[in-house]
Amino acid sequence: MQATAAVEQLKPYVAGPRLRDVCSDHGVADMAFLHANECPDGPFPEVVAAVAEALPRLNRYPDQDCSALRAILVDTLGVTPNQLMFGNGSCELLKLLAEAYVSPGEHVVFPSPSFVVYRHLGMQRQAVLKPVPLKEYGIDLQAMVAVVDAQTRMVVVCNPNNPTGSYVSTSALKLFVSGLPSTTLVVLDEAYVEYVTEPAHEDTTSWVVEFPNLVVLRTFSKIYGLAGLRVGYGVANADIVQAIDRLRQPYNVSALAQVAATEALRHPGQVAARRDHVARERERMATALERMGREYVPSQANFLFLNVEGLPMPGEEVPRLLLARGVMTRSGYFMDCPGWVRVSIGTVAENDRFLAALAALTD
Ligand SMILES: Cc1ncc(COP(=O)(O)O)c(C=O)c1O
Repeated sequence: MQATAAVEQLKPYVAGPRLRDVCSDHGVADMAFLHANECPDGPFPEVVAAVAEALPRLNRYPDQDCSALRAILVDTLGVTPNQLMFGNGSCELLKLLAEAYVSPGEHVVFPSPSFVVYRHLGMQRQAVLKPVPLKEYGIDLQAMVAVVDAQTRMVVVCNPNNPTGSYVSTSALKLFVSGLPSTTLVVLDEAYVEYVTEPAHEDTTSWVVEFPNLVVLRTFSKIYGLAGLRVGYGVANADIVQAIDRLRQPYNVSALAQVAATEALRHPGQVAARRDHVARERERMATALERMGREYVPSQANFLFLNVEGLPMPGEEVPRLLLARGVMTRSGYFMDCPGWVRVSIGTVAENDRFLAALAALTD
């Protein structure tokens, strides 16, 4: 049975290997999972307790409106309840936004390399893809503006960018958004924004009042340690929220995800502690890479993108050799950057293991 032409050309998302198989496949006792930009720590203890408390009520469908989660975000962000949308991960919201706003033949503009899902959702919509190369590993806002025309229905910016970790200042971003046509949906993917330590960083969610075509997406999968539950949110003008409401399936955010995300937002001190840990470790790893003579991209996220060319083996081989030493990273090969590797910031011990494994490859 043939699927539609749009579906036939897609490739499934390639996740890393199944975690339980990785250690045995590589003959190591345990593995540092530094391949998916996850938080090395689990959910906050209070979140674990809240989820456990909610388990006996799983016979009931979840709250269709995510009322408790909406209420706490209204307080935290200072937005109105009708400016919030929720998804089964921010990926679901990306997909729904493309479905709602992009018709076949229209243009989707996104940076490259960046999060692979942007390309995928453009293909799904049978859109014309307009990837814009990075400039010195950072998002080139000027080049992005230059390709936007009357056909452009969606522009995506990832800040900090995955896989490079590079950051564009919010002042430059604001100018960029204000220079785009109001008929173009601008999606600002902030999956890693909680890790940003740049002092001049501004919270972008308040911008949706000024820019009715802007959506800011965030996730609980990263700093909150809830990747396994799949929950993300978007802030946008009420008419965009309503469009997503018409499209989404009933009860798209599970009951446990709602409980966990709501509780997680009650602990900003623990979020700050995680941000501080990542900032310290990011700095320490960067210094160690410099000492090894390795080029890397300055990062504002919980990962580093580094060049692994010039070792005694081809760059593409490096992730496999690191795996054999108990460290799982993401190869740049799949992101059109074959000589590069993306490594998440883990615990101090995991980061040490990565640095030692990399150093051992040079011997
Ligand atoms: C840039 C970016 N956006 C979105 C996501 C996915 O977030 P979620 O788990 O909320 O679907 C990721 C996950 O790696 C990401 O890197």
